[in-house]
Amino acid sequence: MRRPVRVAVTGAAGAISYSLLFKIAAGEMMGKDQPVILQLVEMPQMMEKLLGVAMELMDCAYPLLHTITLHDNVEDGFKGAHYALLVGAKPRGPGMERSDLLVENAAIFARQGKALNDFANRDVKVLVVGNPANTNALIASRNAPDLSPSQFTCLTRLDHNRAKGILANHSGATTRDIGGIMIWGNHSTTQYPDLHQATIIGKPALDFVDMDWYRDEFIPKVQKRGGEIIQARGQSSAASAAQAVVDQMRDWVLGTEPGEIISMGILSDGSYGIAKGVFYSFPVRCNYGRYQIVQDIDVNEFSRQRLQASEQELLEEKAVIEHLLPKETEHSH
Ligand code: NAD
Ligand code: LMR
Repeated sequence: MRRPVRVAVTGAAGAISYSLLFKIAAGEMMGKDQPVILQLVEMPQMMEKLLGVAMELMDCAYPLLHTITLHDNVEDGFKGAHYALLVGAKPRGPGMERSDLLVENAAIFARQGKALNDFANRDVKVLVVGNPANTNALIASRNAPDLSPSQFTCLTRLDHNRAKGILANHSGATTRDIGGIMIWGNHSTTQYPDLHQATIIGKPALDFVDMDWYRDEFIPKVQKRGGEIIQARGQSSAASAAQAVVDQMRDWVLGTEPGEIISMGILSDGSYGIAKGVFYSFPVRCNYGRYQIVQDIDVNEFSRQRLQASEQELLEEKAVIEHLLPKETEHSH
C-alpha cells in the first residue's frame, strides 16, 4: 500500500462536499490504491455540521480513508496538504453586485493563498471551485509567491462535462463516443463551449448537428446551465460539480487518456492571444502530474470573437480586485 496523501477541502460541510468527500474517500479521485487523509475546513459556526459529515464518512468504513481531521481555519487545515480543493466561498446575497462578490471573496482567497504558501506541501496542487472561480484562483495564486502559479487551477471541467452530456443527448451518441470538446474562458455565461474540434466516433461533431442548433441553442445552454439548475433545483449544482472536481484532479494527477483533451482553468501564458495574468479555461492534456495547453488549434473568426469576449470579462474582473493583489514577484509569472 502507498503512503497516504493529504487532501484539504474547504467548504467541507457544504452541498458539493457532501458528494465530493465520499467520492474521494472511495478512491475515485486519487486512484483505488491511494489512501487519503481528509483535512476538512469550515467556518467556526459550521463545525458541528462538519462533525456530522465526518461521522458519516467514518460510518462508510472506506478502506482507503486513512484519517479525517477537522479545522476551523485554513492555516491548520492546509498543513502538509498535497491537494487543496477550495470549495467554500461567500455566496452572492440579496442586493449584492457581482463586484461586491469579487471583493468579498478576494479577502477569503487571499488568506487561503497565504496559508497554502506557508503551510502546504511544496508540490501542492490547488483547484478553486468557489465562485467567481477564475478570479479567486488568480487571487490565491498571487498570494502564494513561493509556489508556482501553475500549481493553481480553477474548475471548468463541469462546463466541459455539461457540453459533452448535452451533445450526447442531442446526437444520440454516448459520451464515450465524443472527444475534442473545449471550454474557453471564464466559468460564467461568457464561456465558450467550442465544438469545432469535437468528434463523434472519430468524425467531426459539427457534421452531425445543425449549425443553427450549435450557435443558438447549444452554446447558450452550456453557458447558462448553472443558472438553469439553480432555477430548477432551488440550489446550485452539487453532485455534478463534485464529479467534475474528481474528473479534473484525477486527470491532472494520473494523466489524460492518449489523445484525450480536457478543459482546465489555468493562468494564461499568452497562448491563443489571451492576455497573460488571468485564469482562463484552455484545452489541455495531462501527464506526469503536469498539464500542457493543446497548441495549434485552428480558431476561426466565430470562435475568436467568443474567446475574446470571455477574456474581456476576466480582465474586467481582475480590474475590480487589482488594488487588493500583492505586487507581482519574479515567481508569479
Ligand atoms: P454551500 O453553500 O452548500 O457550501 C459552501 C460551504 O463553504 C458552506 O458550508 C460554508 O460554511 C463554507 N465556507 C464559506 N466560506 C468559507 C471559508 N472561508 N472557509 C471555509 N469554508 C467556508 O455551497 P456549494 O453548493 O457547496 O458550492 C460551493 C461553491 O462552489 C460556491 O461558490 C458555488 O458557487 C461554487 N460552484 C462552482 C462550480 C464550478 O464549476 N466552478 C460549480 C458549482 C458551484
Ligand atoms: C454552476 O456552474 O453550476 C455554478 O457555478 C452556478 C453558481 O452560480 O453557483
